[in-house]
Amino acid sequence: MTSFVLVKELRERDRRRMLKHFIELEESDRLLRFGSVLPDEQVINYVNRIDFSRDVVFGVYNRLFRLVAVGHLAFAPRDEKNSATEKERVAEFGVSVSRSARGRGIGSRLFERAAIHCRNNDVDTLYMHCLSSNKTMMHIAKKAGMEIHRDYGEADAYLKLPPANPGSVLQEALDEQFAVLDYTFKANKRIAAKWLGRLIGRK
Ligand SMILES: CC(C)(COP(=O)(O)OP(=O)(O)OC[C@H]1O[C@@H](n2cnc3c(N)ncnc32)[C@H](O)[C@@H]1OP(=O)(O)O)[C@@H](O)C(=O)NCCC(=O)NCCS
Repeated sequence: MTSFVLVKELRERDRRRMLKHFIELEESDRLLRFGSVLPDEQVINYVNRIDFSRDVVFGVYNRLFRLVAVGHLAFAPRDEKNSATEKERVAEFGVSVSRSARGRGIGSRLFERAAIHCRNNDVDTLYMHCLSSNKTMMHIAKKAGMEIHRDYGEADAYLKLPPANPGSVLQEALDEQFAVLDYTFKANKRIAAKWLGRLIGRK
């Protein structure tokens, strides 16, 4: 079932919820997301080291204000391996969606948002690295038109992106505005519910 998915850029204040999202991933999902079954300690290190001034992290909150998906778009300078581009930087995308929220288009929407962000920031090559046994991610990659190279059970996929245009800039700005409104509404609702709970508890 596909529903309306609002993708928001995450900030420092979301770091604690990001950690909760990753820690709750089952072993098999950690393997698919990170390429190995990272122990909790390394997951904590990974989350603590995300640099919001360099990379962009996208997230999806559910109606209970729980972070159910995280997409990390990491930028790196082009090197000799990145022969697919003339631009200064390339981007790599990693994504995970909580089991309870899968199959509703969230993973695909996060990917689309990452792609449009690259376009709008002068990056024309978006990479993804995953296990070739990852049928769902392979499906999303193919659907997006990614070029896929399989090698010893692993797959490197990349997507060439067109340059930004007024439509892509407007789309990203609108997507973010709607997601910020939704986030603020849910955050306030949660605060109000807590206050109400305390008031009722006092009586
Ligand atoms: C991969 C992942 C992000 C997908 O998230 P999601 O929100 O369920 O994805 P979507 O709902 O957007 O899309 C799933 C698509 O895959 C298809 N799909 C699901 N299972 C499939 C399978 N076994 N084989 C082929 N396609 C499959 C669905 O039909 C859907 O296709 P459609 O959009 O054309 O209808 C999620 O499963 C996940 O977090 N996995 C663990 C971590 C991981 O693998 N990360 C990717 C490596 S970086």
